[in-house]
Amino acid sequence: ARRVLDGRCLVLVGLMGAGKSVIGRMTASRLDLPFVDSDHEIERVSRMSIGDLFELYGEDEFRALEARVIARLIETGPRILSTGGGAFIAERTRALVKERALSLWLDADIETLWGRVKRRDTRPLLRTADPKATLQALMDERYPVYAEADLAVQSRDVGKHVVVDEVLETLA
Ligand code: S3P
Repeated sequence: ARRVLDGRCLVLVGLMGAGKSVIGRMTASRLDLPFVDSDHEIERVSRMSIGDLFELYGEDEFRALEARVIARLIETGPRILSTGGGAFIAERTRALVKERALSLWLDADIETLWGRVKRRDTRPLLRTADPKATLQALMDERYPVYAEADLAVQSRDVGKHVVVDEVLETLA
């Protein structure tokens, strides 16, 4: 599976709750590669939480910072990189990822996503009157774009190890 990366990063894309961080971390450890999460890196360099960044600077500024952080991370050699749900949607970031890395979409249905995100109130985009409807609207808007990723794996609630095995098989 490492060979197909050919020195590139594997970039996990997909909606909030798709399991990009958890599956990414486990995949990295199975492949003995470093793992990095773009949201964590953004929080580290800005010394602010994603929520505060959205609130203080707005989504556009956040996207600009996200694009810069991902552009830098992609050049750091083979690793597993999980990205925030909107990263691959931004045209510039998507073009860069498509050109320089291997992308994998973790595809999940609304009930799976909702079951995972409803427990935590850390996502600024879901601070709406009806967060489940917002999530569904994001699915409708973004799924055709995520489908442009090089690879796709279903992220179901069948056990994390099963999903990781499927990721590794897809890479093999
Ligand atoms: C976002 C997803 C979040 C985070 C930010 C915006 C999005 O990341 O980057 O709240 O636009 O979908 P996760 O997908 O890791 O929750």
